[in-house]
Parts: sequence; structure tokens; C-alpha cells
Amino acid sequence: MRYIEFINKYKDLPNVELEAIYFILEEVNHLSRSEFLLKRNEGIEQELLTQCTYMVEEYIYHSIPVQYLVGHAYFYGYCFKVNPNVLIPRFDTEVVVDQVLKETKKMNATSIVDVGTGSGCIAIAIKKKLPQVKVVASDISLEALKVAKENKEILNVDIEIKESDLLQNINEKFDIIVSNPPYIDESEELSSLVRNHEPHLALFSPNHGMYHYEQILIQSKNCLKEKGIIIFEIPSNHSNELVEIVKKYYSIIEIYQDLNHLNRVMVIRT
Ligand SMILES: C[S@@+](CC[C@H](N)C(=O)[O-])C[C@H]1O[C@@H](n2cnc3c(N)ncnc32)[C@H](O)[C@@H]1O
Repeated sequence: MRYIEFINKYKDLPNVELEAIYFILEEVNHLSRSEFLLKRNEGIEQELLTQCTYMVEEYIYHSIPVQYLVGHAYFYGYCFKVNPNVLIPRFDTEVVVDQVLKETKKMNATSIVDVGTGSGCIAIAIKKKLPQVKVVASDISLEALKVAKENKEILNVDIEIKESDLLQNINEKFDIIVSNPPYIDESEELSSLVRNHEPHLALFSPNHGMYHYEQILIQSKNCLKEKGIIIFEIPSNHSNELVEIVKKYYSIIEIYQDLNHLNRVMVIRT
């Protein structure tokens, strides 16, 4: 079967994103986007076709995210191993890394802790760009930390990985606390791709999605150096609610937008 025939077979089925089919074809056949487009009229090798068919059908008929099927996802230009124990790194989160890099340079930061590291994507991307800065990556999930450790090895970075319930097991002070914590309310509407397959520990937070933020704010007092800052990824639709909570603990709050002009990053200064 030719690539183009494979695409045509599936692309018009309900709830199918063309990009997901492209992703599977490119990753299984080890093709860049331009190589893939050039090869569209060529045949797919039988063994690879079997793999692609299995994956596309798992995606279409069982709503399995394509990154879990392929086993990796791209973030900040790096390839991260992922499995159902970790959230799939999102493009939207890249602006959080951008902000950390900017703030680190501005304040000459030497130490950063990433709370709820999951695959390790934020911590590792930061360390790749700032090898001289000490980076600690923590999570409560041992299964997630296993993936973060593998990514640390694969991407060859020297970060420290720690099991911790938020900041409870972090016994030192940092210039920057960064976190993309769970922030979805259980009752919120979510695609089945996300709700049925991504780890609930990574998605949901009690108290209208605000619990983890508030706990980090409370615990941060013991883990921030003087003039230290907190950088949060935030839910664009609940940023006002979060501002009200942060005001109970800190007074300097800035909000930055992502490429879609949605509130996405909060910087809290002490
Ligand atoms: C939204 S995911 C973010 C993962 C990754 N940092 C990213 O941006 O893709 C939230 C992460 O927080 C972790 N987490 C949930 N509750 C936690 C807690 N009490 N302490 C530490 N980590 C927690 C989850 O295991 C998950 O890896």
C-alpha cells in the first residue's frame, strides 16, 4: 500500500486528525515531514505497514494517544520517551520554559526545582539550555520518575531526580520554583483521548483545580531563596481565580500569554 492510500483510508473517519496519521507514518518510518511528503506516492514496507495499521487503528477505535503508541513526544526540540504513566508534553508548556530561561538570565539564577516533572520535559529542556544551572526534578509518582530518569539518560543531562509530594521532601532553597501542576477540575469536560488515557494524577486537582497551586504556594516559603520566584503554567480559563489565591501569599503577580494569546504563564515575585 502507498502512503497516500493509507492516509485516504483513514482520514475522513469521525474524530480523526490528519496530523495524528502523519505522526504515526513519520515516526514508524523514520521520516521527516519533508521526506514523508516526497514519498507520499511510494509504497510502505510490509512490516512497517503492519505496525502503522495497528497504531492508527488503536488511535481511531480505542482513542489511544498517538504519542503513547509511538512511545515518544517532541518538546522544545527534544524527543522525550513517554508512556501512560506520564502526561504527554504539550506545545503550550514550551512558553513556560521560555519564561524560566528569561528569568534565569535576568536574575542570574543558579538553582531551579521543577515540581511535578512527569516525563521530565520542563527540567530537561531547561538543563539543556542552561547546563551550568542546578536543576532538580521532582514528582510524587515513582512510575513518572522512572520515565524522567530514562529521559535524563537518553538526553544526557545532569539533573537531580527526587521523589516528593510537592515540596515536602525538598530540603533546600532555590532561585526558581517552576511547576505545571495538575489543574483540571474532575467535572470539566475533557476529550476521551485525555480522560481515558492520561494519568489522572497528572490531570486533576481538587478545589476547582486550585489545590496543588495553593499547596505549592504555602510550601514555597521554605524552598525559595530571598528574591526567589515561582513560575506556574496556568489554565487560561481560570487565571483570575488563581490570582485571587496567589494574592493570599504573594503580592507581585505577572501573567504572560502563549502563542494563541491565552493566559498561560504566571510569574510570582517575592
Ligand atoms: C500536569 S502534569 C505535568 C508534567 C510535566 N511537568 C509536563 O509539563 O508535561 C503534573 C505532574 O504532577 C505530578 N503530581 C501530581 N500530584 C503531585 C504531588 N502531590 N506532588 C508532586 N507531584 C505531583 C503528576 O504525577 C504529574 O507528573
